Amino acid sequence: MPYSYDNLISLPTREKLTHFIRNEKIFHLIFAEQFSRELLDRLCRLATTLRGIAKSKEGLKFLNNLLSHKSCMLFFTQPSTRTYLSFVRACQFLGINYAEVRDINTSSIFKGETDTDSVRTFSSYFDIIIMRHHKSGFAEKTAFMMNSINRSIPIVSGGAGQDEHPTQALLDIYTLSRSFEWRPDFFNNIHMAFMGDVSRGRTVQSLVKLLCLYDNIKISFVSPKQLTIPKKLKNFLDRTRTTYQELNDIKEIIGDIDAVYVTRIQDEYDTNESSKIDYTPFHLTVNLVKKMKKRSIVMHPLPRREELDPQIDFDSRAMYWRQERNGMWIRAALISYLFNAESSILDYYTQNYSY
Ligand code: NCD
Repeated sequence: MPYSYDNLISLPTREKLTHFIRNEKIFHLIFAEQFSRELLDRLCRLATTLRGIAKSKEGLKFLNNLLSHKSCMLFFTQPSTRTYLSFVRACQFLGINYAEVRDINTSSIFKGETDTDSVRTFSSYFDIIIMRHHKSGFAEKTAFMMNSINRSIPIVSGGAGQDEHPTQALLDIYTLSRSFEWRPDFFNNIHMAFMGDVSRGRTVQSLVKLLCLYDNIKISFVSPKQLTIPKKLKNFLDRTRTTYQELNDIKEIIGDIDAVYVTRIQDEYDTNESSKIDYTPFHLTVNLVKKMKKRSIVMHPLPRREELDPQIDFDSRAMYWRQERNGMWIRAALISYLFNAESSILDYYTQNYSY
């Protein structure tokens, strides 16, 4: 029976997830909610193993050959530096051939082809399609299309409209897990603050979904009153019984938080003239960081504007540059997992690195 994408897209997220699984594994990655706690732990371990192997020339040679029979299409219709480049480098480490369309004026979309037809074309040439698209439902629509035409080509979302950024959430979890390795209870029981445009920041929406998989996380959303968290996210937090609060002054909690996740104002989605909002109370300054716990961390998905003082870069709590680097390794881990290369990597590591 032919699929009706529109009917499928209107289902609640948790009812769609089964469409994106194959052989009890994630096949298309569209939503952060597809990750389980167990899979997150597995991917974090795999990312650390990969970066260990890549340290030696021999190890790099092994990785460069690992998926050299695979190819990848990067379709990015929205601006991107980190997500795009970290996926490129992840492919290069694993020996995957890749191509890109980033400017639709250079593709047949310019001649009036629909973007779904373009994606169908990519699927004739490549083994996986990684995409960032300005329309929220586009990645899932193309995943449904791949299923309906029986094409075994995974779709991976590298950011979809205001709603989802599952691989950013993945790299944020990897960063938290590396940063809090020293804590006996890991990053269970932490207090995490999200500051800024928590209404339209897709990184916030996706990361919150993953934080709820850990024990006793407390979340504070610090934002201007015009940019508070959307109803959908509130429902999710209530359903998962996550402890959270909404406030508009970070000073109230600055000494108590273990991590702060700063975000820029997402004015590309403006309908309500957010340029008129006074964003300065949501800037993280050196003085505020001084009041944070000694072993707390400052995160930001980047790119930053004035909301994150560059002087903070010199503080050992600044984690955002490591965060972007972690993105490359965890994305390499994700691609390896999707192409079933996980056990080859772990076996190689055991044979060559554990004495
Ligand atoms: C984010 C995005 O695109 O949502 N950037 C990223 O992928 N690292 C954050 C942003 O643009 O503010």
